[in-house]
Amino acid sequence: MVHREIQVPLGERSYPIYIGSEMHSSFAPTCQRHNVPQDVLIITDKLVGKHYLRPLEKNLKHYQFRVTTIVIPPGEREKNLRRADKIFTAMLEKGIGRNSAVVALGGGVVGDLAGFVAAVYQRGVQFIQVPTTLLAQVDSAVGGKVAVNHPLGKNMLGAFYQPAFVWTDAKCLRTLPEREISCGLGEIIKYGVISDKNLFIYLEQQLDRLLHLDAEAVMHVQARCCEIKSQIVEQDEHEAGLRMVLNFGHTVGHALEAAGHYRVLKHGEAVLLGMMAESFLAHKMGLLDAESFRRIETLIYRVPLKRALGALKPKAIIAAMGRDKKAVSGKKRFVLPTAIGAVRVVEEVEPSLLRACVQRILGHRSA
Ligand SMILES: NC(=O)c1ccc[n+]([C@@H]2O[C@H](COP(=O)([O-])OP(=O)(O)OC[C@H]3O[C@@H](n4cnc5c(N)ncnc54)[C@H](O)[C@@H]3O)[C@@H](O)[C@H]2O)c1
Ligand SMILES: [Zn+2]
Repeated sequence: MVHREIQVPLGERSYPIYIGSEMHSSFAPTCQRHNVPQDVLIITDKLVGKHYLRPLEKNLKHYQFRVTTIVIPPGEREKNLRRADKIFTAMLEKGIGRNSAVVALGGGVVGDLAGFVAAVYQRGVQFIQVPTTLLAQVDSAVGGKVAVNHPLGKNMLGAFYQPAFVWTDAKCLRTLPEREISCGLGEIIKYGVISDKNLFIYLEQQLDRLLHLDAEAVMHVQARCCEIKSQIVEQDEHEAGLRMVLNFGHTVGHALEAAGHYRVLKHGEAVLLGMMAESFLAHKMGLLDAESFRRIETLIYRVPLKRALGALKPKAIIAAMGRDKKAVSGKKRFVLPTAIGAVRVVEEVEPSLLRACVQRILGHRSA
């Protein structure tokens, strides 16, 4: 059943995000309402496909859609041009034409990759997001950023390409590994800190329900995060300014991911630690009061995160920060909280303070 519908208002590229639970039977009728072409290609990964490909395929076929499927191996390492090229070849071989739709069934990896494929294939075919991880449902499936990685940097090749709609089924999360729930909570806490004190308070009070995937609590935060993201994207679709606030926790987070060669930490885990470091930085710079800092740190601590961080060296983390594509003319940019629910972009940060922040998270979290 669809529980909530949230609009992303982008003129002729506007689209809805449908949030609910057990919605398989209404997917194809929704496609019909959105004038999705008869030829549909579902791209998914093996782990997601095992659970959700058949029901989706069956539902589409039942409504006379012609369905083709491509199943890729799971994992961030698949989000590259080589995999995209293989998909293009398969699409050409299967005779998929311009009047087709690509459905991304999976987490952020499948969403980013399938979106990239949809944006580029024959100059663009229709695209639908069916996110199946908590992270993708609250963040990556919304906003139209699609990309693949390059050996010299993450998300270096991509586009802004909005889907026709986003289909978020909370029931999918039941099969998700626990580690992925923590990753999603990273981005959810981010939304509370950057713009919604009430969401932050809700998380303080209801975190345990979320960890147990209580459907009502999950749908509440999914809807709130999607609303916040859609308001930000509406004002700044192509990240000329405001959209940057979504990078709270990500300057340090991306550096943590890179320093571990994308094997030690997953994106959401790195964001959790990154938010802790950047909140500490804000506090040390006199931007964030001690009590707000304590509340942010306490909430992050409550999210299970069982990574051994011994392989991450402070020097490598700080070096990786300089290479981040979001660094403007070599300067590191930080989105720092000034209160719970408000942030500010800061460019000048004392190197000694930065080292202290990195030391703090490594010291705290080494297992
Ligand atoms: N486009 C954006 O705006 C944006 C924003 C944030 C993150 N991202 C990108 O998202 C990616 C991370 O996405 P992710 O955290 O969803 O990881 P992911 O796509 O790798 O999924 C995590 C793991 O969970 C499995 N999985 C997914 N759904 C499942 C389900 N319902 N049941 C069982 N297993 C399931 C997948 O097979 C995978 O092994 C990164 O590449 C990141 O750069 C993009
Ligand atoms: Zn993120």
